[in-house]
Amino acid sequence: MKLLIINGPNINMLGIREPDIYGRETYGDLLRFLKETAERENMDIECFQSNHEGAIVDKIQDAYGRFDGIVINPAAYTHTSVAILDALKAVALPAVEIHISDVSKRDDFRQISYAGMACVKTYAGYGFEGYAMGMRYLKEYIKGDGNE
Ligand code: DQA
Repeated sequence: MKLLIINGPNINMLGIREPDIYGRETYGDLLRFLKETAERENMDIECFQSNHEGAIVDKIQDAYGRFDGIVINPAAYTHTSVAILDALKAVALPAVEIHISDVSKRDDFRQISYAGMACVKTYAGYGFEGYAMGMRYLKEYIKGDGNE
């Protein structure tokens, strides 16, 4: 099983950006956490981070036929990007939306998620663990799908 893990803008600034909200662990720490989770769950992963909407759209398009699913934290693009929503719909791969913080308890403008409309599940507010939850959810989801 091969999963693409996408992180959007400013996730590379973890550890520096707003530590009260996002914690003190860095993007490097997140990559290590994802790698360890993938090993434990016996999955192949590729991790991608970009601050650019078009680069994220390109990466989602490239995933078609190459990955079984997508774990995505679109970061601020969650709340603005119809292009990312459309790309997820275009490839039609099962996708899970992740947010490190609990967006439901934050600003009004964070209450809309375009990407989430193309995702089978959302985990928000669980820190790094939310990514592991998303990976495990997709594993079961994809296994179930294939055996029907
Ligand atoms: C975020 C939440 C978004 O609202 C914000 O713009 C981010 C990170 C999260 O992981 O909690 O950059 O996606």
